[in-house]
Amino acid sequence: MDKIRPAYEELGAEGFYALHGAAYRNPHEPRVHAVLAAILTDPITAEPALLDEVLDLACGSGEATLALRGLGARDVTGIDPYTGAAYRGRTGRDAESLRFEDIAAGALTGRAYSLVVCSYALHLLAESRLPALAYAMSEVTTVFVVVTPHKRPTLRPEWGWHLHREVVVDRARARLYRTSPNPTSPTTRP
Ligand SMILES: C[S@@+](CC[C@H](N)C(=O)[O-])C[C@H]1O[C@@H](n2cnc3c(N)ncnc32)[C@H](O)[C@@H]1O
Repeated sequence: MDKIRPAYEELGAEGFYALHGAAYRNPHEPRVHAVLAAILTDPITAEPALLDEVLDLACGSGEATLALRGLGARDVTGIDPYTGAAYRGRTGRDAESLRFEDIAAGALTGRAYSLVVCSYALHLLAESRLPALAYAMSEVTTVFVVVTPHKRPTLRPEWGWHLHREVVVDRARARLYRTSPNPTSPTTRP
C-alpha cells in the first residue's frame, strides 16, 4: 500500500484505477469476505432470496463476488470501468464497464437485483453525486450493502435508504440498507 500511495495521490483515485486497474487486488480481501459473511448470515438480515441475483458494483478483481459465491449466491454480475481483466482473471466472467456516474444517469434502468453490494469503493464518488446514485440503486434493488473501511459514505432516508443493520469486522464496516424503513414490523410482514 505504501508503494501505491504516491501514485494514487498523483493520479487521483479514478486515474489510478484507469492506469493500474488490470492488476488490482485488495490487500484487505479477507476482511471483505469476513464482513460480508457476518452481515449476510446475521439472523436479523439473512434471507436466502437475497443471494438470487446480485450486483457487485465497482467489483475490482472480484473480492466481493468471490465472497458472495462462497455464501451461495446464484448469480453475481460485476460492474467496474477499470478492472475488467483482473475481474475476468479471478472470476471467469466479464465485468460491465460502467462508471458510478453512468449508473446515476440511468444506465441500469429496467434491471432488478435481489441485492447490490459495493465494497471499498463508494467513498470514491463525490459526495454531491451520491444522492443520484442512491436513487438509481433504489430503482433496481431493495437491499444495498455498502462495505467500507471508513465511516463514510452513509446513505440517507431522504435518498430512499434506511439503515437496517451494521456490522464491523477487523475495521471493515458493512452497512445493510433497505428501501423500506422496517421490513420486519408487523405492518409490513404478517
Ligand atoms: C478500492 S477498489 C475496490 C474494489 C473491490 N470492490 C474491493 O472490494 O476490493 C475501488 C474500485 O472502484 C472502481 N472505480 C473507481 N472509480 C470509479 C467510478 N467513477 N465508477 C465506478 N467504479 C469506479 C475502481 O476501478 C476499483 O475497482
